[in-house]
Amino acid sequence: MDPYTNPFSPGAGSRPPQLAGRLGILEDAKIALGRVAQGKSAQSQILLGLRGTGKTVLLNEIERYAEEKNYLTSFIEAPEDKTLTEMLYPQMRQALRKMSVVESARSLANKALSGLRNFASVFKVKIGEVDIGVEPTPGVADSGNLEFDLTEMFVLIGEAAKASGRGWALLIDEVQYLKKEELAAIIVAVHRVGQKGLPLVVVAAGLPQIAKLSGDAKSYAERLFSYPAVGALNKEAAEDALVNPIQNEGAEIDPEALEEIIARTSGYPFFIQEWGHHSWNVAEGRRISFQDVEIATSRALARLDEGFFRVRMDRLTNAEIDYVHAMAALGRGPYKSTDVAKQLEKAPSALGPCRASIIKKGMIYSPNYGEVEFTVPLFDDFLRRNR
Ligand SMILES: Nc1ncnc2c1ncn2[C@@H]1O[C@H](COP(=O)(O)OP(=O)(O)O)[C@@H](O)[C@H]1O
Ligand SMILES: [Mg+2]
Repeated sequence: MDPYTNPFSPGAGSRPPQLAGRLGILEDAKIALGRVAQGKSAQSQILLGLRGTGKTVLLNEIERYAEEKNYLTSFIEAPEDKTLTEMLYPQMRQALRKMSVVESARSLANKALSGLRNFASVFKVKIGEVDIGVEPTPGVADSGNLEFDLTEMFVLIGEAAKASGRGWALLIDEVQYLKKEELAAIIVAVHRVGQKGLPLVVVAAGLPQIAKLSGDAKSYAERLFSYPAVGALNKEAAEDALVNPIQNEGAEIDPEALEEIIARTSGYPFFIQEWGHHSWNVAEGRRISFQDVEIATSRALARLDEGFFRVRMDRLTNAEIDYVHAMAALGRGPYKSTDVAKQLEKAPSALGPCRASIIKKGMIYSPNYGEVEFTVPLFDDFLRRNR
Protein backbone atom coordinates (compact mmCIF):
# COMPACT_ATOMS: atom_id res chain seq x y z
CA MET A 1 0.00 0.00 0.00
CA ASP A 2 0.94 3.61 -0.34
CA PRO A 3 4.00 4.21 1.87
CA TYR A 4 2.95 7.84 2.23
CA THR A 5 -0.11 6.85 4.23
CA ASN A 6 1.67 4.12 6.23
CA PRO A 7 0.43 4.77 9.79
CA PHE A 8 3.10 2.79 11.67
CA SER A 9 5.98 4.48 13.41
CA PRO A 10 8.94 2.26 14.24
CA GLY A 11 11.69 4.22 15.98
CA ALA A 12 12.91 5.06 19.46
CA GLY A 13 10.44 7.34 21.20
CA SER A 14 8.20 7.74 18.10
CA ARG A 15 4.59 8.23 19.07
CA PRO A 16 2.67 5.16 17.90
CA PRO A 17 -0.55 5.64 15.93
CA GLN A 18 -2.35 3.80 18.72
CA LEU A 19 -0.92 3.84 22.24
CA ALA A 20 -2.36 0.46 23.13
CA GLY A 21 -2.61 -1.26 26.49
CA ARG A 22 -1.24 1.50 28.71
CA LEU A 23 -4.38 3.11 30.10
CA GLY A 24 -3.68 2.02 33.68
CA ILE A 25 -0.21 3.51 33.76
CA LEU A 26 -1.37 6.76 32.16
CA GLU A 27 -4.35 7.07 34.49
CA ASP A 28 -2.10 6.63 37.55
CA ALA A 29 0.26 9.28 36.24
CA LYS A 30 -2.61 11.70 35.62
CA ILE A 31 -3.94 11.22 39.13
CA ALA A 32 -0.50 11.70 40.67
CA LEU A 33 0.05 14.93 38.71
CA GLY A 34 -3.39 16.22 39.65
CA ARG A 35 -2.88 15.47 43.33
CA VAL A 36 0.59 16.92 43.60
CA ALA A 37 -0.55 20.11 41.85
CA GLN A 38 -2.98 20.55 44.75
CA GLY A 39 -0.34 19.95 47.38
CA LYS A 40 -1.53 16.40 48.07
CA SER A 41 0.74 13.39 48.38
CA ALA A 42 1.07 10.92 45.52
CA GLN A 43 3.15 7.96 44.44
CA SER A 44 5.43 8.76 41.55
CA GLN A 45 6.24 6.15 38.97
CA ILE A 46 9.40 4.49 37.79
CA LEU A 47 8.45 2.66 34.61
CA LEU A 48 10.51 -0.47 34.16
CA GLY A 49 10.81 -2.49 30.98
CA LEU A 50 13.03 -3.90 28.27
CA ARG A 51 14.12 -1.93 25.22
CA GLY A 52 11.41 -1.11 22.73
CA THR A 53 8.48 -1.64 25.08
CA GLY A 54 7.37 2.00 24.93
CA LYS A 55 8.82 3.64 28.03
CA THR A 56 10.02 6.79 26.30
CA VAL A 57 6.70 7.14 24.52
CA LEU A 58 4.95 6.94 27.90
CA LEU A 59 7.24 9.52 29.46
CA ASN A 60 6.49 11.87 26.56
CA GLU A 61 2.79 11.30 27.03
CA ILE A 62 3.05 11.95 30.78
CA GLU A 63 4.98 15.13 30.02
CA ARG A 64 2.10 16.22 27.79
CA TYR A 65 -0.40 15.60 30.61
CA ALA A 66 1.79 17.58 32.96
CA GLU A 67 1.82 20.50 30.54
CA GLU A 68 -1.95 20.30 30.27
CA LYS A 69 -2.10 20.53 34.05
CA ASN A 70 -0.02 23.68 33.86
CA TYR A 71 3.26 22.16 35.04
CA LEU A 72 6.62 23.39 33.86
CA THR A 73 8.33 20.27 32.59
CA SER A 74 11.91 19.14 32.13
CA PHE A 75 12.95 15.97 30.32
CA ILE A 76 16.38 14.46 30.71
CA GLU A 77 17.94 11.25 29.53
CA ALA A 78 20.32 9.91 32.14
CA PRO A 79 23.67 9.86 30.42
CA GLU A 80 26.10 6.98 30.37
CA ASP A 81 29.11 9.24 30.44
CA LYS A 82 28.04 12.42 32.24
CA THR A 83 26.93 13.18 35.76
CA LEU A 84 23.34 13.75 36.79
CA THR A 85 24.20 17.24 38.00
CA GLU A 86 25.51 18.21 34.56
CA MET A 87 22.25 17.10 32.97
CA LEU A 88 20.03 18.62 35.64
CA TYR A 89 21.66 21.99 35.95
CA PRO A 90 20.45 23.56 32.67
CA GLN A 91 16.96 22.15 33.21
CA MET A 92 16.68 23.50 36.73
CA ARG A 93 17.98 26.84 35.55
CA GLN A 94 15.50 27.04 32.70
CA ALA A 95 12.57 26.12 34.92
CA LEU A 96 13.60 28.72 37.51
CA ARG A 97 14.05 31.38 34.85
CA LYS A 98 10.46 30.78 33.75
CA MET A 99 9.24 30.99 37.34
CA SER A 100 11.20 34.16 37.96
CA VAL A 101 9.16 36.13 35.42
CA VAL A 102 6.05 35.57 37.50
CA GLU A 103 5.83 38.49 39.92
CA SER A 104 4.64 36.44 42.89
CA ALA A 105 7.51 33.96 42.48
CA ARG A 106 10.35 36.30 41.59
CA SER A 107 12.10 36.49 44.94
CA LEU A 108 11.84 32.75 45.65
CA ALA A 109 13.00 31.91 42.12
CA ASN A 110 15.98 34.21 42.51
CA LYS A 111 16.79 32.63 45.85
CA ALA A 112 16.72 29.23 44.16
CA LEU A 113 18.85 30.48 41.26
CA SER A 114 21.37 31.72 43.75
CA GLY A 115 21.40 28.28 45.39
CA LEU A 116 21.76 26.74 41.95
CA ARG A 117 24.91 28.74 41.40
CA ASN A 118 26.46 27.17 44.48
CA PHE A 119 25.19 23.79 43.43
CA ALA A 120 26.82 24.13 40.02
CA SER A 121 30.08 25.28 41.47
CA VAL A 122 30.34 22.63 44.20
CA PHE A 123 29.59 19.88 41.65
CA LYS A 124 31.86 21.48 39.06
CA VAL A 125 29.22 21.92 36.41
CA LYS A 126 30.38 24.12 33.57
CA ILE A 127 28.03 27.08 33.52
CA GLY A 128 29.05 28.08 30.00
CA GLU A 129 28.67 31.46 28.35
CA VAL A 130 25.49 32.68 29.95
CA ASP A 131 25.88 33.59 33.57
CA ILE A 132 23.12 33.00 36.00
CA GLY A 133 22.92 36.67 36.97
CA VAL A 134 22.51 36.36 40.75
CA GLU A 135 24.97 36.45 43.59
CA PRO A 136 25.72 33.20 45.40
CA THR A 137 24.39 32.81 48.93
CA PRO A 138 26.92 30.94 51.05
CA GLY A 139 25.61 27.86 52.80
CA VAL A 140 22.86 26.98 50.34
CA ALA A 141 23.19 23.73 48.38
CA ASP A 142 26.96 23.85 48.60
CA SER A 143 27.87 21.07 51.04
CA GLY A 144 29.18 18.82 48.27
CA ASN A 145 26.95 16.00 49.49
CA LEU A 146 24.66 15.28 46.56
CA GLU A 147 21.80 13.90 48.64
CA PHE A 148 21.78 16.96 50.83
CA ASP A 149 22.29 19.58 48.14
CA LEU A 150 19.88 18.11 45.62
CA THR A 151 17.23 17.97 48.33
CA GLU A 152 17.84 21.60 49.11
CA MET A 153 17.58 22.51 45.42
CA PHE A 154 14.36 20.55 44.97
CA VAL A 155 12.81 22.27 47.98
CA LEU A 156 13.86 25.70 46.68
CA ILE A 157 12.49 24.91 43.22
CA GLY A 158 9.30 23.49 44.70
CA GLU A 159 8.76 26.65 46.77
CA ALA A 160 9.34 28.90 43.77
CA ALA A 161 7.02 26.73 41.66
CA LYS A 162 4.31 26.92 44.28
CA ALA A 163 4.62 30.70 44.48
CA SER A 164 4.32 30.90 40.69
CA GLY A 165 1.12 28.86 40.82
CA ARG A 166 2.57 25.99 38.79
CA GLY A 167 4.22 22.65 39.41
CA TRP A 168 7.51 21.30 38.12
CA ALA A 169 7.57 17.84 36.52
CA LEU A 170 10.95 16.25 35.95
CA LEU A 171 11.00 13.28 33.60
CA ILE A 172 14.08 11.08 33.62
CA ASP A 173 14.62 8.47 30.93
CA GLU A 174 17.19 5.64 31.05
CA VAL A 175 17.48 5.75 34.86
CA GLN A 176 19.56 2.58 34.83
CA TYR A 177 22.52 4.75 33.84
CA LEU A 178 22.29 6.82 37.02
CA LYS A 179 24.89 6.05 39.62
CA LYS A 180 23.63 4.57 42.84
CA GLU A 181 24.26 7.81 44.77
CA GLU A 182 22.49 9.84 42.09
CA LEU A 183 19.35 7.74 42.17
CA ALA A 184 19.43 7.76 45.97
CA ALA A 185 19.74 11.56 46.00
CA ILE A 186 16.72 11.93 43.73
CA ILE A 187 14.65 9.64 45.90
CA VAL A 188 15.56 11.37 49.13
CA ALA A 189 14.88 14.77 47.52
CA VAL A 190 11.48 13.65 46.21
CA HIS A 191 10.65 12.37 49.65
CA ARG A 192 11.42 15.75 51.18
CA VAL A 193 9.38 17.82 48.72
CA GLY A 194 6.54 15.36 49.16
CA GLN A 195 6.58 15.87 52.91
CA LYS A 196 6.42 19.61 52.39
CA GLY A 197 3.51 19.30 49.97
CA LEU A 198 5.43 21.12 47.24
CA PRO A 199 4.29 20.74 43.62
CA LEU A 200 7.23 18.77 42.27
CA VAL A 201 6.93 15.41 40.52
CA VAL A 202 9.58 13.05 39.22
CA VAL A 203 8.60 10.32 36.76
CA ALA A 204 11.33 8.01 35.55
CA ALA A 205 11.81 5.08 33.21
CA GLY A 206 14.52 2.52 32.69
CA LEU A 207 15.61 -1.04 32.29
CA PRO A 208 14.56 -3.49 34.96
CA GLN A 209 17.49 -4.11 37.28
CA ILE A 210 17.52 -5.71 40.66
CA ALA A 211 17.27 -3.03 43.33
CA LYS A 212 20.53 -1.21 43.70
CA LEU A 213 19.47 1.05 46.52
CA SER A 214 20.17 0.72 50.16
CA GLY A 215 19.42 2.45 53.45
CA ASP A 216 17.06 5.38 53.70
CA ALA A 217 16.76 5.79 49.95
CA LYS A 218 15.54 2.22 49.68
CA SER A 219 12.87 2.47 52.32
CA TYR A 220 11.63 5.78 50.90
CA ALA A 221 11.70 4.37 47.40
CA GLU A 222 9.45 1.51 48.38
CA ARG A 223 6.75 3.83 49.66
CA LEU A 224 7.19 6.80 47.34
CA PHE A 225 7.32 5.10 44.00
CA SER A 226 5.33 2.53 42.15
CA TYR A 227 7.16 0.48 39.57
CA PRO A 228 4.76 -0.31 36.75
CA ALA A 229 6.11 -2.97 34.41
CA VAL A 230 6.07 -1.88 30.80
CA GLY A 231 6.11 -5.16 28.94
CA ALA A 232 4.85 -6.88 25.82
CA LEU A 233 1.25 -6.06 24.93
CA ASN A 234 -1.33 -8.72 25.65
CA LYS A 235 -3.21 -10.16 22.69
CA GLU A 236 -6.07 -7.71 22.84
CA ALA A 237 -3.81 -4.66 23.11
CA ALA A 238 -1.54 -5.96 20.35
CA GLU A 239 -4.59 -6.34 18.09
CA ASP A 240 -5.66 -2.79 18.91
CA ALA A 241 -2.17 -1.51 18.15
CA LEU A 242 -2.35 -3.04 14.67
CA VAL A 243 -6.00 -3.03 13.62
CA ASN A 244 -7.01 0.50 14.58
CA PRO A 245 -4.28 2.32 12.65
CA ILE A 246 -4.94 0.15 9.59
CA GLN A 247 -8.69 0.75 9.72
CA ASN A 248 -8.23 4.45 10.31
CA GLU A 249 -6.49 4.60 6.95
CA GLY A 250 -9.42 2.78 5.34
CA ALA A 251 -7.59 -0.55 4.97
CA GLU A 252 -7.96 -4.02 6.49
CA ILE A 253 -5.97 -6.98 7.75
CA ASP A 254 -6.85 -10.69 7.54
CA PRO A 255 -7.20 -12.48 10.88
CA GLU A 256 -4.40 -14.96 10.03
CA ALA A 257 -2.15 -12.07 9.08
CA LEU A 258 -2.89 -10.37 12.38
CA GLU A 259 -2.18 -13.53 14.32
CA GLU A 260 1.09 -14.06 12.46
CA ILE A 261 2.33 -10.56 13.33
CA ILE A 262 1.45 -11.06 16.98
CA ALA A 263 3.25 -14.41 17.03
CA ARG A 264 6.36 -13.03 15.31
CA THR A 265 6.60 -9.97 17.53
CA SER A 266 5.54 -11.61 20.80
CA GLY A 267 3.51 -8.44 21.30
CA TYR A 268 6.55 -6.19 21.80
CA PRO A 269 5.57 -2.66 20.79
CA PHE A 270 8.67 -1.80 18.80
CA PHE A 271 8.39 -4.98 16.74
CA ILE A 272 4.67 -4.43 16.24
CA GLN A 273 5.45 -1.08 14.61
CA GLU A 274 8.20 -2.63 12.52
CA TRP A 275 6.02 -5.52 11.30
CA GLY A 276 3.02 -3.29 10.78
CA HIS A 277 5.14 -0.90 8.76
CA HIS A 278 6.53 -3.57 6.43
CA SER A 279 3.26 -5.46 6.08
CA TRP A 280 1.55 -2.25 4.99
CA ASN A 281 4.20 -1.50 2.37
CA VAL A 282 4.16 -5.07 1.03
CA ALA A 283 0.37 -5.36 0.62
CA GLU A 284 -0.87 -4.73 -2.93
CA GLY A 285 -4.56 -4.03 -2.32
CA ARG A 286 -6.32 -2.46 0.64
CA ARG A 287 -6.00 -5.66 2.66
CA ILE A 288 -2.97 -7.17 4.40
CA SER A 289 -2.82 -10.96 3.90
CA PHE A 290 -0.87 -13.75 5.58
CA GLN A 291 1.49 -13.88 2.57
CA ASP A 292 2.14 -10.16 2.90
CA VAL A 293 3.18 -10.70 6.49
CA GLU A 294 5.52 -13.53 5.49
CA ILE A 295 7.34 -11.20 3.12
CA ALA A 296 7.23 -8.46 5.75
CA THR A 297 8.86 -10.84 8.24
CA SER A 298 11.94 -11.32 6.09
CA ARG A 299 12.18 -7.57 5.47
CA ALA A 300 11.67 -6.72 9.12
CA LEU A 301 14.26 -9.22 10.29
CA ALA A 302 16.80 -8.02 7.72
CA ARG A 303 16.29 -4.45 8.83
CA LEU A 304 16.44 -5.27 12.54
CA ASP A 305 19.57 -7.39 12.07
CA GLU A 306 21.29 -4.52 10.27
CA GLY A 307 20.02 -1.80 12.60
CA PHE A 308 18.35 -2.25 15.97
CA PHE A 309 20.22 -5.43 16.89
CA ARG A 310 23.51 -4.70 15.12
CA VAL A 311 24.15 -1.34 16.78
CA ARG A 312 23.90 -3.03 20.12
CA MET A 313 26.48 -5.66 19.19
CA ASP A 314 28.88 -3.01 17.94
CA ARG A 315 29.26 -1.73 21.47
CA LEU A 316 30.60 -5.04 22.81
CA THR A 317 34.17 -6.30 22.99
CA ASN A 318 35.03 -9.73 21.56
CA ALA A 319 34.94 -11.37 24.97
CA GLU A 320 31.53 -9.80 25.62
CA ILE A 321 30.27 -11.02 22.24
CA ASP A 322 31.34 -14.56 23.21
CA TYR A 323 29.45 -14.16 26.47
CA VAL A 324 26.15 -13.14 24.85
CA HIS A 325 26.47 -15.90 22.24
CA ALA A 326 26.95 -18.39 25.05
CA MET A 327 23.73 -17.10 26.62
CA ALA A 328 21.81 -17.45 23.36
CA ALA A 329 23.17 -20.96 22.80
CA LEU A 330 21.33 -22.00 25.95
CA GLY A 331 17.93 -21.19 24.40
CA ARG A 332 15.43 -18.78 25.94
CA GLY A 333 16.37 -16.82 29.07
CA PRO A 334 16.71 -15.98 31.82
CA TYR A 335 20.05 -17.73 32.14
CA LYS A 336 21.95 -18.81 35.22
CA SER A 337 25.38 -17.16 35.24
CA THR A 338 26.85 -20.52 36.19
CA ASP A 339 25.32 -22.13 33.08
CA VAL A 340 26.78 -19.44 30.86
CA ALA A 341 30.17 -20.06 32.45
CA LYS A 342 29.82 -23.77 31.86
CA GLN A 343 28.95 -23.10 28.22
CA LEU A 344 32.14 -21.04 27.90
CA GLU A 345 34.14 -23.63 29.87
CA LYS A 346 35.27 -20.98 32.32
CA ALA A 347 34.96 -20.42 36.06
CA PRO A 348 31.99 -18.16 36.90
CA SER A 349 34.24 -15.87 38.95
CA ALA A 350 36.52 -15.33 35.95
CA LEU A 351 33.53 -14.03 33.98
CA GLY A 352 32.27 -11.62 36.64
CA PRO A 353 33.92 -8.48 35.21
CA CYS A 354 32.78 -9.31 31.66
CA ARG A 355 29.20 -9.84 32.85
CA ALA A 356 29.32 -6.60 34.85
CA SER A 357 30.58 -4.67 31.85
CA ILE A 358 27.76 -5.96 29.60
CA ILE A 359 25.26 -5.02 32.30
CA LYS A 360 26.78 -1.55 32.51
CA LYS A 361 26.37 -1.16 28.76
CA GLY A 362 22.68 -1.92 29.21
CA MET A 363 22.72 -5.07 27.04
CA ILE A 364 21.85 -7.58 29.72
CA TYR A 365 20.42 -7.27 33.21
CA SER A 366 20.00 -9.40 36.25
CA PRO A 367 16.33 -10.22 36.83
CA ASN A 368 17.19 -12.27 39.91
CA TYR A 369 20.26 -13.04 41.90
CA GLY A 370 22.69 -15.16 39.85
CA GLU A 371 20.67 -14.79 36.66
CA VAL A 372 21.09 -12.79 33.48
CA GLU A 373 18.70 -11.91 30.69
CA PHE A 374 18.81 -9.77 27.56
CA THR A 375 17.41 -6.25 27.79
CA VAL A 376 16.37 -6.41 24.14
CA PRO A 377 13.46 -8.75 23.39
CA LEU A 378 14.16 -11.45 20.77
CA PHE A 379 17.88 -10.70 20.97
CA ASP A 380 18.64 -14.38 21.55
CA ASP A 381 16.97 -15.20 18.21
CA PHE A 382 19.10 -12.57 16.49
CA LEU A 383 22.28 -14.06 17.97
CA ARG A 384 21.34 -17.56 16.89
CA ARG A 385 20.53 -16.29 13.36
CA ASN A 386 23.89 -14.58 13.20
CA ARG A 387 26.31 -16.96 14.83
N1 LIG B 1 1.55 1.12 23.65
C1 LIG B 1 2.09 1.02 22.43
N2 LIG B 1 1.39 0.49 21.41
C2 LIG B 1 1.94 0.39 20.20
N3 LIG B 1 3.19 0.80 19.89
C3 LIG B 1 3.93 1.33 20.84
C4 LIG B 1 3.43 1.46 22.17
N4 LIG B 1 4.39 2.02 22.93
C5 LIG B 1 5.45 2.23 22.12
N5 LIG B 1 5.20 1.81 20.87
C6 LIG B 1 6.17 1.83 19.75
O1 LIG B 1 7.29 1.08 20.19
C7 LIG B 1 8.51 1.67 19.77
C8 LIG B 1 9.45 1.84 20.94
O2 LIG B 1 8.96 2.81 21.84
P1 LIG B 1 9.94 3.51 22.90
O3 LIG B 1 9.12 4.38 23.74
O4 LIG B 1 11.10 4.11 22.19
O5 LIG B 1 10.44 2.25 23.75
P2 LIG B 1 11.51 2.20 24.94
O6 LIG B 1 11.73 3.61 25.40
O7 LIG B 1 10.90 1.33 25.98
O8 LIG B 1 12.75 1.58 24.36
C9 LIG B 1 8.13 2.94 19.01
O9 LIG B 1 8.18 2.67 17.62
C10 LIG B 1 6.70 3.22 19.45
O10 LIG B 1 5.97 3.84 18.42
MG1 LIG C 1 13.49 4.66 25.49
